[in-house]
Amino acid sequence: MESNVFIFDHPLIQHKISLLRDKRTTTKEFRELVGELAMLMAYEVTRDLPLKEVEIETPIAIAKTQVLAGKKLAIVPILRAGLGMVDGMLNLLPMAKVGHIGLYRDPKTLEPVEYYCKLPDDVTEREIVILDPMLATGGSASAAVTFLKERGITQIKFMCLIAAPEGIARLQKDHPDVPIFCAARDPRLNDHAYIVPGLGDAGDRLFGTK
Ligand code: PRP
Ligand code: URA
Repeated sequence: MESNVFIFDHPLIQHKISLLRDKRTTTKEFRELVGELAMLMAYEVTRDLPLKEVEIETPIAIAKTQVLAGKKLAIVPILRAGLGMVDGMLNLLPMAKVGHIGLYRDPKTLEPVEYYCKLPDDVTEREIVILDPMLATGGSASAAVTFLKERGITQIKFMCLIAAPEGIARLQKDHPDVPIFCAARDPRLNDHAYIVPGLGDAGDRLFGTK
């Protein structure tokens, strides 16, 4: 297994991924599942956030206890499908800011084309989690990371639902410093660069466009 790749084997995550793959799952159910998965995964992705000790007065006594040390976070969904993961993340991380990167895969070249970018003003002070349900060839993820690094961002994590070996290899080769968090690692891509067995086109299933 590759280093810096974290695959979440929690039963709740695996169960929801199975429901997500099912072609009979409706758009409404698909959207709910993506949100729930993002929330469950947020729990693990934030495992290394620093804590600081504080004193809090309980009804009984003074407690020396721990709170988040104020590490600033931003989540950056890759449009469109990454949008489906935003609310789930914000449920657990209400203090996070949200940036957006618009990329689509050119259907002929399969290379990512950038069409939108809006990031928080203080983004270089923040740790970034890029969100996209699918890591297929890795072209979109790698371009998004390059894009953020060009703007001076140094601490970046990538979180997806399903990853193909090709995408993991590409992202690790281009950006070995970026840890990859995913719920499933599927065996391969097909001739159209769709993940097999995957779940189909995440954007279309999320927004009901096909
Ligand atoms: C999908 C997906 C990723 C990308 C993954 O988006 O959400 O962004 O493909 O493929 P890659 O790893 O080969 O780059 P798509 O380009 O279909 O755009 P959409 O979200 O607007 O549907
Ligand atoms: N994008 C998707 O939405 N699905 C895939 O399987 C690959 C890329």
